[in-house]
Amino acid sequence: MRGRGLAAVAAFVVGIPTLALADAAAPQAGATAEQPFPPSYITVEGGKAAKVDDWQDPSMCVGCHPRQAAGWQGSMHSIAFTDPVFQNLWALGDKATKGATFNHCGACHTGPGIASGTVKFDPDKPVHGEFTAPGVAAKGVSCDLCHTISASNVMKTATLEHGNASYVMSPGPVKRGPLQESKSPFHETAYSELHTKAAFCGNCHNIFHPTNHFPVERTYDEWKYSIYAQNGIQCQDCHMTPVKTAIKVADTLKPAKALGDKELGGAAGMGGPTDRSLVHEHGFVGGNAIIAPLMKVQGGEEHKAIAVERLQNAAELEVKVEQLKDNLHLLKVKVINARAGHHLPTSLTEVRQIWVEAVVTDSKGRELMRSGTLTAQNELPADTVAFNSHAVDKDGKDTVLPWEVSRFVDSPTIPPRGYKYAKYPFNVPADAGSLKVVAKLNYRSYPQGVADIILGKGAVKIPTFEMESVTKEFPVSKGKVAAAK
Ligand code: HEC
Ligand code: HEC
Ligand code: HEC
Ligand code: HEC
Ligand code: HEC
Repeated sequence: MRGRGLAAVAAFVVGIPTLALADAAAPQAGATAEQPFPPSYITVEGGKAAKVDDWQDPSMCVGCHPRQAAGWQGSMHSIAFTDPVFQNLWALGDKATKGATFNHCGACHTGPGIASGTVKFDPDKPVHGEFTAPGVAAKGVSCDLCHTISASNVMKTATLEHGNASYVMSPGPVKRGPLQESKSPFHETAYSELHTKAAFCGNCHNIFHPTNHFPVERTYDEWKYSIYAQNGIQCQDCHMTPVKTAIKVADTLKPAKALGDKELGGAAGMGGPTDRSLVHEHGFVGGNAIIAPLMKVQGGEEHKAIAVERLQNAAELEVKVEQLKDNLHLLKVKVINARAGHHLPTSLTEVRQIWVEAVVTDSKGRELMRSGTLTAQNELPADTVAFNSHAVDKDGKDTVLPWEVSRFVDSPTIPPRGYKYAKYPFNVPADAGSLKVVAKLNYRSYPQGVADIILGKGAVKIPTFEMESVTKEFPVSKGKVAAAK
């Protein structure tokens, strides 16, 4: 599993200079009234031509919405355009595809930038190129972008499912949200059921390849067929509440509102009622605990702490040792997706790494088995049990570049409330005395080799976060392992 596709990426990157000049092909070639920014599905209500200033800057919302602002500031949504991992991968894609990924990637990471035609690309800037955009277009997935989304273009997509930016933008005075009968001195309001549903998120959290239609990222689909969807639990119930609440949601299969937790209530906006039953967290924290702190954005460290907390509550481990034959035993580590509303890992499953690190020692301190310990190069050893997808291109060559992916030849991701086993055969010496098994589940956002290519060699040492850890002692008599103590 280690470094899959790296050689292919490296070879590709070396080839870039010749492709660079071919960039800047007309990004909107093939536009129609129905699909004005192909291959993405974003539209502006009424087919209007949008200007950047049609969306209001988040700085205009913070004064009256301090709770939402504190969450959004430093979130991945707030850096969706400036995130250096995104910028550099987009730059590689734009060069490799002669601009075909321009609207595709841009429509989810800066909808207003694409719709207003204001995103500029300089292929000569480090590391692989730099995209710039004015004002609110550089603020990624911003307050006003989300709260002026008025519908989904789901029935227009090639897969007839939400995804590839299948949202309708209606920038203007009306802010849409979950509150019935809400009044604001600054803007008009409208109740929007869409905002209370996972489908709202699914417009961006489902990505299929624009031409071969392979579902490269399918967090929404994974959720849609999960026990959570069956119980009416939306993305919002876990990602727009504190982790403590999300744990209760997952364990009780009750939506956040039904938990009746008083702490979640309060004022939704200055000048409005002070007793709204649920005011939503706007940090949208997932597993990424690297990029916001790296960019030193305000709120980045707070988001990191919540991401780590979220990771530490997603999974559970169970450890067993079975005798196979004579001294030969099998360590079985059961990895349970206990509280993620989608697969573990989800989204960029060809890049995000979740793996088991297991070590068995005996009472004499001898190491009988070890797997999944990072090498000196900060990579996973080849025999590691990891739950990532293995992506290949149309010719079956390994790749981690989204525009090249044509299929997953293996996708051992763990479904919601499902489990997978990591199994390790090993020998127990007759004089072992007892066994100590330490099993850990680890997470990191990118393999070191992928980060080196995207951000530049040695630019960032990718940290590992421990999701779960179990230590167990097993008595041994005459080479046979008894049940755990
Ligand atoms: C990714 C999209 C997204 C972004 C960005 C976003 N919001 Fe929200 N917001 C939502 C959704 C969805 C809800 C409703 C959740 C529900 O009811 O399930 C919501 C709810 C609200 C509410 C109603 C009260 C509450 O908290 O439930 C207000 C007010 C609000 N947001 C303001 C803001 C402000 C101000 C910002 C920027 C600082 C912002 N939002 C950024 C999606 C977003
Ligand atoms: C349909 C919407 C959509 C499209 C299209 C899209 N993205 Fe994203 N992108 C997302 C979402 C949602 C995430 C967050 C997933 C996560 O972190 O788990 C994301 C995350 C990423 C990340 C990870 C950022 C980090 O810091 O770890 C990178 C890199 C990225 N996208 C690059 C691209 C590129 C390059 C393209 C075009 C080839 C693209 N995206 C197209 C929605 C989209
Ligand atoms: C002068 C204060 C003020 C400013 C500035 C302001 N709001 Fe509001 N907003 C409010 C009040 C008050 C409410 C009503 C809260 C309630 O009903 O509980 C509200 C409600 C909302 C709602 C809920 C609508 C619904 O029906 O669910 C959203 C969404 C929202 N605002 C978004 C924004 C965004 C985005 C901005 C910045 C572009 C912004 N607001 C700027 C005061 C303000
Ligand atoms: C307009 C598109 C869009 C919408 C709508 C949207 N997202 Fe996102 N989301 C993104 C993008 C793009 C990123 C990745 C940003 C980056 O590259 O840094 C992201 C990142 C995230 C992350 C952080 C992932 C990580 O790796 O930690 C979470 C969690 C998340 N979104 C949840 C949600 C939820 C829940 C909703 C619905 C309430 C939602 N998003 C709606 C585009 C969107
Ligand atoms: C039952 C709670 C729950 C629900 C429902 C849920 N999530 Fe998550 N989500 C989690 C947990 C826990 C994590 C952290 C573990 C991980 O990274 O998968 C997470 C992680 C994420 C990530 C970061 C993945 C990564 O590693 O880059 C994204 C993006 C995300 N969720 C989006 C969504 C979207 C979109 C929905 C709805 C379609 C949703 N989630 C529904 C609990 C939930």
